[in-house]
Amino acid sequence: MYNSKITGLGYYVPENVVTNNDLTQWMDTNDEWIQERTGIKERRWIDPKTGDNTSNMGAKAARIAIERAGLTKDDIDFIIFATLSPDMYFPGGGVRVQDLLDMPTIGALDVRNQCSGFIYSLSVADQFIKTGMYKNVLVIGSENHSGGLERSTRGRGVTVIFGDGAGAAVLSRSEAQGKGILSSHLHSEGKHAKELALEGPSTGRWVPEIIKENDPNDVSYYPHMNGQFVFKHAVVRFSEAIIEGLQTNNLQATDIDMLIPHQANLRISQFVQKKFGLSDDKVHNNIMKYGNTTAASVIIALTEAWELGKIKGNDLVVLAAFGSGFTWGSVIIRW
Ligand code: ACO
Repeated sequence: MYNSKITGLGYYVPENVVTNNDLTQWMDTNDEWIQERTGIKERRWIDPKTGDNTSNMGAKAARIAIERAGLTKDDIDFIIFATLSPDMYFPGGGVRVQDLLDMPTIGALDVRNQCSGFIYSLSVADQFIKTGMYKNVLVIGSENHSGGLERSTRGRGVTVIFGDGAGAAVLSRSEAQGKGILSSHLHSEGKHAKELALEGPSTGRWVPEIIKENDPNDVSYYPHMNGQFVFKHAVVRFSEAIIEGLQTNNLQATDIDMLIPHQANLRISQFVQKKFGLSDDKVHNNIMKYGNTTAASVIIALTEAWELGKIKGNDLVVLAAFGSGFTWGSVIIRW
């Protein structure tokens, strides 16, 4: 059987920095509240003048990852694109990247799993490679949150958390045994779907209905979140997914060289770090700079950790995420 390994990593974030103080022009909030509750100091929000959007940020990250893999766009066999903020209702970002990178008419799959989107996508890519169907799969996570957040005091509980950005990985066939992706575990619990959701426009709440009602209290077309409920579930599910991955591979927490947690909230990451007894050099967080970039968060953080030299050959790298759906999961990699 073939193995799969990450051969290229890249990320792209918009240049426009929005600090916590900058947010006070739209809403009643403050730097102290945001930092104390989330750890976030600033995030990147697309400047509309630049023309950046979910697909082209994904394409920018992908170009870097493909080049670092020592490949060209023509070597890629399949695209997997994860986002909750597509440029269009349909089609999704995968086909847009195929076009933007001028790739051959390869398949493109969109994954709708919010903060777990990259974990799910990496797992799907891993299966395609392990079955022998594809040799090089491009996996992208990209989000344009700023285009759809409510910039007012009413929306502050959600709006201050999210940032824009994209990351990409090339997953390639490998003959090396015991290396690359060792396992992935994916979960969902749809009964909590509405605890963190954006309900319209959708077929259940379509545009004419929203316009007709014109209700100032209708926030169905902005994301809403039951923050404390999500937080309580996140800390439990993160831990479960990591334990499941370690047990499958007969590994212990002490074997972890680098944990890349989805950047939902610094307090969640710190809780998980403490639970597994990991020192600061074994966890990479960047939520302080980028906020929560949802499907892009794990891949941006992984790329950044790798660029900083924090991940070396043979290291045990654990990726874990939890988010809207609820969905959650983990991927264990022997680098
Ligand atoms: N600035 C100032 N005050 C605020 C802000 C703000 N930005 N937002 C809310 N407040 C106020 C509230 O109105 C409330 O005031 P009140 O006590 O007078 O009613 C008070 O602060 C406390 O609000 P809570 O929502 O209870 O704050 P909490 O401590 O729960 O922190 C947070 C909120 C940071 C969102 C936290 O609940 C959290 O991180 N939850 C998990 C998020 C997460 O993991 N999401 C999953 C991934 S995202 C995805 O999948 C798309």
